[in-house]
Amino acid sequence: MSELDAAEVREIAEALRSLDGALLPILHAINDRFGYVDEAAVPIIADVLNLSRAEVHGVLTFYHDFRREPAKRHIVRLCRAEACQSLGADRLAEELDAALGTGTDATVETVYCLGNCALSPAALVDGKLYGRVTTDSVLALVRR
Ligand code: FES
Repeated sequence: MSELDAAEVREIAEALRSLDGALLPILHAINDRFGYVDEAAVPIIADVLNLSRAEVHGVLTFYHDFRREPAKRHIVRLCRAEACQSLGADRLAEELDAALGTGTDATVETVYCLGNCALSPAALVDGKLYGRVTTDSVLALVRR
């Protein structure tokens, strides 16, 4: 994180510090602003809120809403809830993880139900909903 980013993180944290339960709104604001919450933001937030780094880190890692690294170009949100799981979502996730190793510009994230259960397994690829996805169909979407 650059000096400028660190200053902006502190500015965001200080602007929201007086809210009830300020930690979550601060993490959301930083996640929205930078697209993720860099680990370097943790001591800054801890300092502003007079919390331990462990407390901030614990909340940051507990909630899946917060991205911990910069987003890649393609985001695959793969449903792993019951209907999709029964139609192979776990195997699909493993295959995608293996196929989209380091060096590819795509991230696979897990979500629990996209409301598309009738067309399981389902995935959101770059914000667009797809049903009956396969490893090949997802790879085709993120490689074009
Ligand atoms: S369980 Fe996957 S879309 Fe509902």
